[in-house]
Amino acid sequence: MTSTASVRTAHLTADAVSKGFEHTPVVSAVSLTVSAGERLGVVGENGRGKTTLLRLLAGDLVPDRGAVVRHGSVALVGQELPVRDGDTIGTFLDTALRVSREAVAEVTDASTALADAEPGAPARLTDALARAEALAAWDADRRADVALAALGAPSDRTLPMTGLSVGQRHRVRLACVLAERTDVLLLDEPTNHLDGPAVEHLTAALRTHPGVVVLVSHDRMLLDDVCTAVLDLDPTPDGEVRLHGGGWTGLAAARAAERARWEQRYALESAAHAELTEQVDAARSRLISSWRPDKGVNKHKRATRAPGRLHTLVRRLEDLDARRVPAPPSPLTFTPPELAAAPDEVLLGASGVVVPHRLRPFGDVTLRAGGRLLVSGANGAGKSTLLHVLAGRITPAEGVVHRSGAISIGLLAQESSFADETATPADLVERAEGVPLAELGLLDDVDARRPVSALSTGQRRRVSLALLLARTPHVLLLDEPTNHLSTALVDELTEALRATPAAVVVATHDRRMRADLAGWPDLAL
Ligand SMILES: Nc1ncnc2c1ncn2[C@@H]1O[C@H](COP(=O)(O)OP(=O)(O)OP(=O)(O)O)[C@@H](O)[C@H]1O
Ligand SMILES: [Mg+2]
Repeated sequence: MTSTASVRTAHLTADAVSKGFEHTPVVSAVSLTVSAGERLGVVGENGRGKTTLLRLLAGDLVPDRGAVVRHGSVALVGQELPVRDGDTIGTFLDTALRVSREAVAEVTDASTALADAEPGAPARLTDALARAEALAAWDADRRADVALAALGAPSDRTLPMTGLSVGQRHRVRLACVLAERTDVLLLDEPTNHLDGPAVEHLTAALRTHPGVVVLVSHDRMLLDDVCTAVLDLDPTPDGEVRLHGGGWTGLAAARAAERARWEQRYALESAAHAELTEQVDAARSRLISSWRPDKGVNKHKRATRAPGRLHTLVRRLEDLDARRVPAPPSPLTFTPPELAAAPDEVLLGASGVVVPHRLRPFGDVTLRAGGRLLVSGANGAGKSTLLHVLAGRITPAEGVVHRSGAISIGLLAQESSFADETATPADLVERAEGVPLAELGLLDDVDARRPVSALSTGQRRRVSLALLLARTPHVLLLDEPTNHLSTALVDELTEALRATPAAVVVATHDRRMRADLAGWPDLAL
């Protein structure tokens, strides 16, 4: 990496990079080039290796084979955001703006060196000034304030990160990274925790970013608005990853067309394979019978023709098998369990609820059997707190929460965590004593038997969803349910939520889901 590169010469190249875990290949011989001004999207099913690829590009993981060349400074905004005690907005800024701060410090040091008439000082100062200028380093903190405000994040440097909502933490980190003029921006699901105005700011910032952008996202609108090309990691007939020009829409059409061609070709080749196999078997039988002691006429002719015919058929079968496409893998299909309708009464109600510093005052909530409610509001307005109050996990300081005694309530929390990280998804769901995991179509058999700690973020989210649904609750409380899920599952889940007889409360910023659930009553906090 050459951190002195101008942002306009920023460049990222991966040459046949491969990486595997537990002897299973995750990223296989991926090659790509992204130049300044280009914005590459990366998509694929949960667990397909998007985060792994991004970490390889960032230099955060070492490839098993192949190489990555980075030209310019690099920032990785990871899919998850661990915070430690002691982290504040200030410490996040110190890390993000480190390069700018060092550049300013170098100007000061070089000036001192010049004043002391040290040899080489003039050249050192010229370099330091050029570098600070290129980074607009003196302006970094002001840019951070602008980005924090634009993303609706708090800006008090002393605020501890642990005291912020999940969404606020993500905004702070994103603002820090946008403020630093990093050449190569690598972003993993950056819109998961952003509301509409914040997504607009991010979209504009990325579209005008003069360097390199690589963006993993399930947000189809963001991919359309931002990307100049999209890399699809999902399976293809030839095993190669696909690069499509443009955003999501073009990719989706090309992907569907390729899948249709693949299925058609597979069907034709399978039929041809079956027919040829039959012919080979028949020719082999004829050959065997032709070598039996003579009983009839024409013995000589049969004996000489039969081996040639068999040989030709075997050759044709071998040729076919050599170029045959593999069977198109069946994608996982989410099969929501039947949730029971509750008696037609008020299942859940809240009035006059007060949770100091965590929840804005709101009107009453009343949810009847089969009821629907969308919860919206800026980060930190208290959406997650409200869902926890409704679920009975937070007791409000004031107000009344009514829960019908005969019903069960399930909460999908904003972040997935598991008491036993070594347990497998299959075990966890079995312990819930409800619908077996295999019936839900959320994880394949292999991933269902790995420890949850080893799964990708989206796969872990699928486990949380499975645990929630396996218990077939009467009321579903879902906090940002689309976060980390693949586009296919987002659509399947949305459809299931629209159809279920259970009552549903959804807190989401996801533009697509909000549009798809338009018409649901909306509680704005
Ligand atoms: N450190 C690790 N140890 C073992 N397996 C891992 C590790 N990191 C990733 N994997 C596995 O590699 C595969 C790809 O994971 P990765 O996080 O790259 O997927 P992803 O495409 O980003 O998924 P998601 O959409 O869920 O974020 C998964 O099967 C995951 O379990
Ligand atoms: Mg990921």
